[in-house]
Amino acid sequence: MTIREFPPGFLWGAAAAAYQIEGAVHADGRTPSIWDTFVTVPGAILHGDTADVACEHYERMPQDVALMKRLGLASYRFSLAWPRVCPDGGALNPAGLDFYRRLTDELLDTGITPFPTLYHWDLPQALEDRGGWTNRDTAYRFLDYAMAVHDALGDRIDSWTTLNEPWCSAFMGYTGGGHAPGRQEGVAGVVAAHHLLLGHGLFVDAFRGRGGTADRGKTVGITLNPTVADPFDPSREEDVDAARRLDGFHNRVFLDPLFHGKYPDDLESDTDGMLFDAKPWQDFVLDGDLELISRPLDFLGVNFYHGDVPAALPYDAQPGELLGSRIEHSSRPRQSPYPGAGMVFPRTGRPTTDRDWEIDPVAFTRLLVRLKDVYDAPPVYITENGVMACDVVEDGAVHDTARQRFIEQHLHAMLDAMDRGVDVRGYFVWSFMDNFEWSYGFAHRFGLVHVDYDTQVRTPKDSALWFSRLAAQNRLPVA
Ligand code: FCB
Repeated sequence: MTIREFPPGFLWGAAAAAYQIEGAVHADGRTPSIWDTFVTVPGAILHGDTADVACEHYERMPQDVALMKRLGLASYRFSLAWPRVCPDGGALNPAGLDFYRRLTDELLDTGITPFPTLYHWDLPQALEDRGGWTNRDTAYRFLDYAMAVHDALGDRIDSWTTLNEPWCSAFMGYTGGGHAPGRQEGVAGVVAAHHLLLGHGLFVDAFRGRGGTADRGKTVGITLNPTVADPFDPSREEDVDAARRLDGFHNRVFLDPLFHGKYPDDLESDTDGMLFDAKPWQDFVLDGDLELISRPLDFLGVNFYHGDVPAALPYDAQPGELLGSRIEHSSRPRQSPYPGAGMVFPRTGRPTTDRDWEIDPVAFTRLLVRLKDVYDAPPVYITENGVMACDVVEDGAVHDTARQRFIEQHLHAMLDAMDRGVDVRGYFVWSFMDNFEWSYGFAHRFGLVHVDYDTQVRTPKDSALWFSRLAAQNRLPVA
């Protein structure tokens, strides 16, 4: 049997995010985030689930870290809840910060490398009340919060990720409305994206100012969820244009300012005449912003689940032909997250996951190679990859073969990119355990570990045991 080896020291881990697992939404001075508000909006979350309790990780953290240790994870990617650390987006709350101090210590004591993200979508509601990410001031409030965390934990934490998937925060939050804060305000998504990037750049600048450099073992990066956009019908001009727009509003709107110091030209033409607060989005980009945003990074985090194959509207879809039509959704109406661009996603015939996402590992390889070739991206960590499955516990076990298969296929695709010169340093499964999957609530299970939400019993799935062996061996057999 052929074996593919990973580089020595390759970082194997699993990821989670504060709001999805912690619960304890009122504990120790935490105030509401935009997600605490959004879950109360009728129809916003499937089955009306809320994350008030979630996985009770706030109380069960030491046992959860012990389980990570048993599973042999070398690293744990978690996020800090801004409204715990700086309630209402204001002054530092030592009791809230203390949770992350204990978590960090617990991880280090057990030999697990902490890999924190400063912002995984839980903006303090008080800041949203003042305009949220469409208000430039939010970027400066983020800087204050992030530096407070850095100054408290920076001696023990080596790698910092500023934002998780700002595309979702900006375009699902302010254009499409499927995510908190649920605003459907067209080009507001681009304004929000700019302020998110500004917050990122402000932190990178301050971090470097505190002596944070790779040669001192201190690194900083950002996690994006870039996609590969292919036209559904390459011979149809409108589909080719839909793929270009999707690439612009999803990938290049972040990659170009981060790595080339400018916004793409076609983003400007695609949003021509669209106003937010009576102004074009370019008016929100002030002198010096792009210099901050394009400060060199030590790593790029990549979250990958699927590629995208859009067809332009009008498109006459047959029942069941569009992706997502086989799963139950929350009922609140959404807009396209791509301002002014109507498109749909017909099935291409590839196999799909239980969430009705098409499985396309080749797109993962193509994406990673593009990041190197076009953007000369810094070293990459795969900060999320994984699969939703309708897992059930039978006789104390979960036989989630589809998850193992999915991860295996994507690891091979990642290795293919590495063979082509892409410098990938680590891989985190999404997710460590089943959790609150945003607008899908608890119905969508992504964990290596099954969570029984009635009893809070954790059951490692077969994939967890397999992943643990893989991480220990640092190599993958070729099937
Ligand atoms: C990503 C999110 C993560 C989780 C996975 C399935 O977009 O970053 O929190 O919801 O999708």
